Amino acid sequence: MQPVALHSDRLRLDQPVAADAAPMYEYCQDPLFERFLTVPWPYNHSDAETFISLYIPGAWKADQEYTWVLRAPDSDDFLGVISLRAKSGSIGFWLGAPYRGNEYIPEAQRLVADWAFAEGLVNEIHWECLVGNVASARVARKCGFTFAGTGPSRSAYRDGSHPQSWQGVLRASDDRQIKGGWPESVEQA
Ligand SMILES: CC(C)(COP(=O)(O)OP(=O)(O)OC[C@H]1O[C@@H](n2cnc3c(N)ncnc32)[C@H](O)[C@@H]1OP(=O)(O)O)[C@@H](O)C(=O)NCCC(=O)NCCS
Repeated sequence: MQPVALHSDRLRLDQPVAADAAPMYEYCQDPLFERFLTVPWPYNHSDAETFISLYIPGAWKADQEYTWVLRAPDSDDFLGVISLRAKSGSIGFWLGAPYRGNEYIPEAQRLVADWAFAEGLVNEIHWECLVGNVASARVARKCGFTFAGTGPSRSAYRDGSHPQSWQGVLRASDDRQIKGGWPESVEQA
């Protein structure tokens, strides 16, 4: 499909432009990304350029993965990325370090979930993170995901392994209230 833009009072989710490659490259040097994400590592400027110019538009066109960049409504600054895989319904996200702590990702996640459910693209959205990624788990919990347990990751890690992951699910019929049952380190963070 053609890319769709999503909006809230505080956020604009739209498509990346060539100028986003520089901040994307900069933010992807974060050691958290080596540990918790499957982005290439070391992360090169060409990785950002390829992601923006080839991967994202190709994946929209093929209805494989819907990816947006986050911006404030009145600015072109690039804040981070959120994506939803069509087949598996898995959601992934990251923010540049300067923009964390503002609840941008919970808001973006709600926009993406509302859109995907309203369009009937998926009935369930799956979230997972490596065990110990408390910030990611707090975001999922805040959006009303139900904790589904700990197990080998559904998606392969960078080295092809399936490390122990926290997993959660949000169904189209779910309310968006915070659910109990998350690991203690997540509940008490
Ligand atoms: C996950 C991420 C997008 C969350 O960003 P954010 O929405 O701005 O959220 P915050 O950074 O404020 O963190 C969310 C919560 O976790 C808490 N938190 C953050 N880092 C934490 C840590 N190291 N240990 C414990 N709690 C932590 C915050 O205090 C916040 O608490 P709250 O729920 O009371 O508000 C961001 O941390 C990030 O980009 N991380 C690196 C990439 C990544 O791991 N992506 C997810 C892959 S599954």
